[in-house]
Amino acid sequence: MQKKENRVDTGLDENSVELPACMGFEMVKVTEQEQPADSNIKRVLLCVTGSIAAYKACELTRELVKANVEVRVLMTLNATRFVTPLTFAVLSGHPVYSNEWEQGMIHIDARNAADLLLVAPATANSIAKFANGIADDVVSSTWLAARCPRLVAPAMNPAMWQNAATRRNMDQLQADGAEIVAPGSGNVICGDIGEGRLADLQQIVRLVLDRLG
Ligand SMILES: Cc1cc2nc3c(=O)[nH]c(=O)nc-3n(C[C@H](O)[C@H](O)[C@H](O)COP(=O)(O)O)c2cc1C
Repeated sequence: MQKKENRVDTGLDENSVELPACMGFEMVKVTEQEQPADSNIKRVLLCVTGSIAAYKACELTRELVKANVEVRVLMTLNATRFVTPLTFAVLSGHPVYSNEWEQGMIHIDARNAADLLLVAPATANSIAKFANGIADDVVSSTWLAARCPRLVAPAMNPAMWQNAATRRNMDQLQADGAEIVAPGSGNVICGDIGEGRLADLQQIVRLVLDRLG
C-alpha cells in the first residue's frame, strides 16, 4: 500500500474512499480486473458478522496482515454495532463496507478481489442465510457471488450451535463446499459452557495460510 494523501485504494471498484487525513493514505484507482502489483500477494476477504467475538476479528486481521496477506473487510450492519468499520480500515489499510447501497456492486467487486473468503466470526443468522441462498446484505450477497474457496468460523452460544436448525445449516454449508473451522469448547461470554466459541485465532490463521498455498 502506498501512503501519501488521505485516501486509500479500494481495489473493489473504480472509486476510492476518504479516510481521516491523519491516517495518511493515498488514493489509487484500481479496476476490479486488476491484480495487486505483486501477484504473489494473497488476498483474503474477511467477512465479520454480528457476534460478540467480532473484536477477535481485529486481531485476526492484524495476524493475517503480519503474514503478508492482503485483507479486505466486509461487515454486516450488526457487526458494526460491536466494532467500528474504522478499526478494520486502519488494521487492514483498506476501506470497509457494510452497506451495499453506499457503493456500486460491492459484492461482485469484493469477490473479484479475493483468493479466499473467510467469515469470522460467523453468526447463526448469517450461516442460515448462506445455507439458504439468502442475499440481503453485503456479506450474504458476496457469499453467494463468491467463486473462491470459502472458510467459515462460527461463534455463538452453545445452545444456538446445537440447535437443530444450525446443525442443518452447517451440514448444508459443507455440502455446498464450504470449509468449517470448528468452534472451540469452554465458557462463553453469556455464562454457558459448551461448544460455540470462535476457534483459536492461530488455528484460523494457519488454516487460511495453508489454503492460500
Ligand atoms: C451482545 C450480543 C452478542 C451476540 N453474540 C452472538 C454470537 O456470538 N453469535 C451469534 O450467532 N449471534 C450473536 N448475537 C445475535 C446476533 O447479533 C443476531 O442474530 C444478529 O441478527 C446477527 O446479524 P448478522 O448475522 O447480520 O451479523 C448477539 C447479540 C447480542 C446483542
